[in-house]
Amino acid sequence: MMSTLLDIKDLSVDVTIDKQEFNVVNNLSLRIDKKQKYGIVGESGSGKSLTSLSILNLLPDVLHVSNGHIMLDQTINLTKLSKKEMLNIRGNEISIIFQEPMTALDPLFTIEHQISEVLKFHEKYTKKEMKQLIIDMLDKVGFSRPKQILKSYPHQLSGGMRQRVMIAMALICKPKLLIADEPTTALDVTIQAQILDLMNALTEDYDTSILMITHDLGVIAETCERVAVMYAGTLVEEASVQELFKNPTHPYSVGLLDSVKSLGDRTKKLYSIPGNVPTPAQLNESGCRFASRCSHVMDICRKQDPPQFVINDDHKSKCWLYKDGGKKNNEHYQHTIESK
Ligand SMILES: Nc1ncnc2c1ncn2[C@@H]1O[C@H](COP(=O)(O)OP(=O)(O)O)[C@@H](O)[C@H]1O
Ligand code: SF4
Ligand SMILES: [Mg+2]
Repeated sequence: MMSTLLDIKDLSVDVTIDKQEFNVVNNLSLRIDKKQKYGIVGESGSGKSLTSLSILNLLPDVLHVSNGHIMLDQTINLTKLSKKEMLNIRGNEISIIFQEPMTALDPLFTIEHQISEVLKFHEKYTKKEMKQLIIDMLDKVGFSRPKQILKSYPHQLSGGMRQRVMIAMALICKPKLLIADEPTTALDVTIQAQILDLMNALTEDYDTSILMITHDLGVIAETCERVAVMYAGTLVEEASVQELFKNPTHPYSVGLLDSVKSLGDRTKKLYSIPGNVPTPAQLNESGCRFASRCSHVMDICRKQDPPQFVINDDHKSKCWLYKDGGKKNNEHYQHTIESK
C-alpha cells in the first residue's frame, strides 16, 4: 500500500487585477504518493506553475490561494504556514527547480558558496565536511571535475551544467519531494534527455517523489508514473501515464496526444488544438472551460461545469461525455474521433 506524501485538495488560486478578482486555478485536487513520479501537463497558461508555487507559498503578490489545502505527510497544512515556517520546509522537505537556472543562481557568488548556503541553513556541518558533501553531490550530478565547478561562477557554465548544479542544490538535503517546473524546456534536446535521466536516477536513489511540470507529453512519458492534465486552471483528466496514452478520454487530452503523434509523422499536417486558452476574465463565465474549443460541445457543457467522472479505478475525466459511466460513452467517443 502506497502512502500519500502530498495531498492537494480543492485548491483555488485567484489573481487580483485592478481590484477585481479572477480565478486562475479552480478546485484542483491531486495526490502524490511517497517515491511517486507525478506529472502535470498542459499548454502554457493553464495554471501549472501557479499550482506548484502554491505548494511552497511562493505565489507573486497579486495572487493568493482562495480555497483548499495542501497537506504534507498528512499532518502539515502548507497553505497555513508563515513564510518563516516555510523556510524550514523548502530545500529540506520540498525543493523546486525552474526552467531557467540563471534566475535561481546568484551571478555574484561561486557555486560552492551557493550550495553551502543551502546546507548551512538546514544542517550543522564543519567547513570541511560541507565541502566534501558538495564535491560528492557535484560528482553525483555528473561533473567529472567537481573541484573546478566549486570555484566557478554561474555565467562560466553552460545551461545544462547550470541545471545540474540546480539539481545538486535541490537534492543535497534529500527532500521528500522535488518539484521540477519545465526543467529541460530551455535546453537542447540531447541535454534534455541527460538531465531527465539524471533526475530519474537520483530521485530513485534518495526515495524522493517528483512533481514534474511540463507542456511536453514526451517528458511525461519519459519520467512519470501518473499524470494530471490541466486546462485553463482546471484538472481535466487524471490517470496513470500508461492509461492516459492508451485511453485518453477528455477531448483536450485527446487533442494534446494527437498533436504529439502528428509531430512524429512528417507526412501529416501538424495537428494543433484550434483556438487559445481563455484569459482569466473569460474564465468567470459558467460551464466547461474547454467548451469554446471543443468539437464535441453539447448544450449542457455551456450551462454547467462538469464534475470529475470516474472512468475506472485508475482514471478520472472532467467531461460531460462520460456522464453515464465512462465505458459506454467512451466507445462512442473513440468512434466519433476515428470517423472524423
Ligand atoms: N503574475 C501574474 N499576474 C497576473 N496573472 C498571472 C500571473 N501569473 C500567472 N497569471 C495568470 O495565471 C495563468 C496561469 O499561469 P501559470 O500557472 O504560470 O501557467 P503555466 O505554468 O501553465 O504556463 C496565466 O495564464 C495568467 O493568466
Ligand atoms: S464537457 Fe463538453 S465542452 Fe467540455 S470537454 Fe466535455 S464535451 Fe467538450
Ligand atoms: Mg509555467
